Amino acid sequence: MKLGVCYYPEHWPEERWPVDARTMREVGLDRVRIGEFAWSRIEAAPGRFEWDWLDRAIAVLADAGLEIILGTPTATPPKWLVDRMPDMVALDQLGRPRDFGSRRHYCFSHAGYREEARRITRAIATRYGRNPAIVAWQTDNEYGCHDTVQSFSPAARDAFRQWLAERYDDIGSLNAAWGNVFWSMEYRSFDEIELPNLTVTEANPSHWLAFRRFSSDQVMAFNAAQVEILRDLSPGRDITHNAMGFYTGYDHFALGAQIDVLGWDSYPLGFLEQFRFSDADKTTYARTGHPDIAAFHHDLYRGCAKDRRWSVLEQQPGPVNWARNNPAPLDGMVHLWTMEAAAHGAEMLCYFRWRQAPFAQEQMHAGLLRPDAEPAPALAEATASFEALERLGDTGKPVKQVAIVFAYDAEWITQIQPQGENLSALWAAFACYSALRERGLNVDFVPPGAPLDGYALVVVPCLPFAPDELVASLMACSAQVLIGPRSGSKTAELTIPEGLAPGPLSELAGLAVSRSESLRPGLTHAGNGWEVTRWLDHGEGAAAPELVCDDGVVASWKHGAVRYLAGWPEGSLIREVLSRAIADAGLDMPALPTGVRRVTTEAGSFWFNYGPDTAEVEGTLLHRANWRFVARS
Ligand code: GAL
Repeated sequence: MKLGVCYYPEHWPEERWPVDARTMREVGLDRVRIGEFAWSRIEAAPGRFEWDWLDRAIAVLADAGLEIILGTPTATPPKWLVDRMPDMVALDQLGRPRDFGSRRHYCFSHAGYREEARRITRAIATRYGRNPAIVAWQTDNEYGCHDTVQSFSPAARDAFRQWLAERYDDIGSLNAAWGNVFWSMEYRSFDEIELPNLTVTEANPSHWLAFRRFSSDQVMAFNAAQVEILRDLSPGRDITHNAMGFYTGYDHFALGAQIDVLGWDSYPLGFLEQFRFSDADKTTYARTGHPDIAAFHHDLYRGCAKDRRWSVLEQQPGPVNWARNNPAPLDGMVHLWTMEAAAHGAEMLCYFRWRQAPFAQEQMHAGLLRPDAEPAPALAEATASFEALERLGDTGKPVKQVAIVFAYDAEWITQIQPQGENLSALWAAFACYSALRERGLNVDFVPPGAPLDGYALVVVPCLPFAPDELVASLMACSAQVLIGPRSGSKTAELTIPEGLAPGPLSELAGLAVSRSESLRPGLTHAGNGWEVTRWLDHGEGAAAPELVCDDGVVASWKHGAVRYLAGWPEGSLIREVLSRAIADAGLDMPALPTGVRRVTTEAGSFWFNYGPDTAEVEGTLLHRANWRFVARS
């Protein structure tokens, strides 16, 4: 795995560039990511390109021996451009413009902005596409950051109508597919269809799902336009993009298919604070991050990536500026996070950012250097990582053990029709992942329909729409299978399948769901050391009850090698049912000490201690915030 850093030459005096470049090399960095927000310096006024400074910056970095990842600057269109076409900005769900003054102020559907994005991409790729120092391109920056995938603008509405016309052919099919006869919502033509915001009460869920799919497709079309130009003008270079944490606004499998290396931005402490972790976990892991946050995304994005090529394009180096609270990591954690990315198979990791900026929005965000250019604590940890990677050499790929089937429309459906508080397919997947990782197992994420050979256990945490290919792949595999609640309960159009849930999965699961209910906090069904919380599918059929609550309610069913989980996959219930499936799969392993995780590769085992205490692993002590690799004997 190579190491790199995100650098903004436009933020610093030119005399500083050679010093920075040399220091980067001295501390063990090979790569530098630049340019993704520099549009106003590249094109200061319409058509007035100012390349000199960037030519010199690239030359200085290249002369120092750094390989460059150059960003297209389309996340930050300059003021003059927005003033020329003010309707290029997105409108929020209440119809308010999301104006200039920060970043990502554009609507993916705006034809004029799409052309501008192509124009600036073409200009930069023409200038630098064959420069030997440029080894990769990053398209835009964090599609969807600041909630920017959905736009409720006239441009989005027009494009949505066209998208619908292509998908449904005639308006009668759309009316039938969505069930628009309900509440007299029928349309006579595609041009009558509005976006699903601003309705009196909820819009038809099928309408929302179509809009979510459309919005994702708009991002893909925007990205594809840049990819096409870059492939043409910069042959042989990798194309990458940086995805975010716990983010499902667009289909990342689709993005992965368009580019060469799927990157993501890893901020373990920020994510712990921002997302739905318990207060107890937020306190326990405040300075380490929850042990599954980074790993979950490493494995998820490895699964979304074409040919499993993925990287970390931004790594948290110290306190960030954007979470509710922004603590510093424990000494050793930046190094641990780096080594963990290597263990999961990353080909590169870039720290964000080189030097802390003394101005603007992110002045409280740490870098490898402090604002005064002295080393921040993470700098030495980057060097320690470089040295450790050199020492370790090739440790092989993570071995195949368990697959989790995940799809982005699963999360869209549970967001559109939650049917209870905080019921999310993404977080169901996280809970399953975490329970598997507590047992030391490796997890791969696969899309529905992917081949499942080589896995001992396949988990489908919550997949409301189960396409036929998924059913076929599950039928064809010899693994133990766990199917979670709500799976197969919806069609592709977000309606109830013919018959009952789990629809196309009924035969495999050996049951039909006769009734589903969500359970408020405190309304639980207790079993022997586990309990059903939040959700309950009532089943009937040939499957045998496996976990039965004290009151007779069935929490899980078993039918051959297939289990169906009736309660929500979380806490003690998911641990219990998974431990049975793990044992049947022949993978049985004891639970690891609190906060300890393992990655098994072809060459041995990596161990990581996120926990509060020193732990014993493979006969020796592993201190808090430490990692170790034990080669297979
Ligand atoms: C990312 C973004 C970077 C920077 C960073 C701060 O979301 O891509 O540009 O803002 O967060 O943590």
